[in-house]
Amino acid sequence: KTISLIGAPTDVGASVKGAGMGPDALRVAGLAQALEARGLAVIDHGNLHGPANPWQAPVNGLRHLNEAIDWNQAVYDEVSNALKLGHFPMMMGGDHCLAIGSISAVAKHCKDTGKKLRVLWFDAHADSNLSTISPTGNIHGMPVACLMGHGPEQLIAYGGYTPAMQPNEIRQIGIRSVDDGERQFIHDLSIPVFDMRYIDEHGMRDVMLKALDGVDENTHIHVSFDLDFLDPDIAPGVGTAVLGGPTYREAQLCMEMIADTGRMCSMDIVELNPALDLRNQTALMAVDLIESLFGKSTLVRMATK
Ligand code: ARG
Ligand code: MN
Ligand code: MN
Repeated sequence: KTISLIGAPTDVGASVKGAGMGPDALRVAGLAQALEARGLAVIDHGNLHGPANPWQAPVNGLRHLNEAIDWNQAVYDEVSNALKLGHFPMMMGGDHCLAIGSISAVAKHCKDTGKKLRVLWFDAHADSNLSTISPTGNIHGMPVACLMGHGPEQLIAYGGYTPAMQPNEIRQIGIRSVDDGERQFIHDLSIPVFDMRYIDEHGMRDVMLKALDGVDENTHIHVSFDLDFLDPDIAPGVGTAVLGGPTYREAQLCMEMIADTGRMCSMDIVELNPALDLRNQTALMAVDLIESLFGKSTLVRMATK
C-alpha cells in the first residue's frame, strides 16, 4: 500500500490563525517515518498552493468563501489523482473546511468504482452549520452540511453532482459542541451522531461496533479526524478546543477497531494548530494514533469482531 501525503496549509475556514502550519508540524513529528515503519510506502507530495488568508469578516454569513472554494478545488484534484493511482490519500490540513474537497473526491471515487462509502467523522463539533444559522460564518463549521448538499453552490458539487453523500454514509463520534441551528439540522437530516453522552453511557467499544456496523469487503472507510475530538488535556494544539473529550485509551480503541476492519482507504487529519501547541505534543499524539490506525498493536492478535 502507498500513502500519498497531501499538505493543505491554510486556515481560511477558521477564525483562529495557525492551522496552516499543521502539515509541517506533522512532518516534524515524523508522520512519514512512522508509516514507513509500519511497512507502508509513503510519497509526500508536499504542500498544495492556494490563496492567502485575507482575514476578513463574513459576507452573507460566510467568511472567505472564494478562498475556501479555491483551496477545496486543489484538495479535490489532488485527492482524486491519488485515488486514481490506487494510493491512500492522507490529507494533512489545514482547517476542517478542506474535508469538503477531500470527501467529495472520495465520494466520487466510490460512485465510479461501485464502493460503499462510510465516513467516520471524529470531532468535538458537528460541523453542520449553514450560512443562515452559523454563529461565526466560519466555513470549517460547515463541511458536513456542504457534503449533504446544503451550502454555497461552488462548495457542494466538486464531483459534478450534488449531494456528494447521504446522511446514512456518515457516523459522527465525540461530538460535544453543537450550535442551536445545527441541532435542528442534524435532527431533520437524521445524521447519525454518537455524542459524548452516548460514549459515556455505552462505552467506546459499543460506539465503534455501531459506527462500523454494515462495513463489508466492498466498503471504503474514510476517516475525517479533527484533532479537537481529543480531550484538550492530551491535544491542546487546536483552535477550537472543547472540554470533556475522549481519553487517550478511548481514542486508541477507536483507531484499533478501525484498523481491524482493514477497510480504511483515505483520511483527513485536520485542525492541528502548532501555534497553540506545547512542544508539538498534539502532532506527536496524532502520529501515535495514526500508527494504531495502520495496525500497530501491543500484542500479536486476531481481529476482534
Ligand atoms: N460550531 C462552531 C462554528 O460553526 C465551531 C466549529 C468548529 N469546527 C471545527 N472544524 N473545528 O463556528
Ligand atoms: Mn471539525
Ligand atoms: Mn472540531
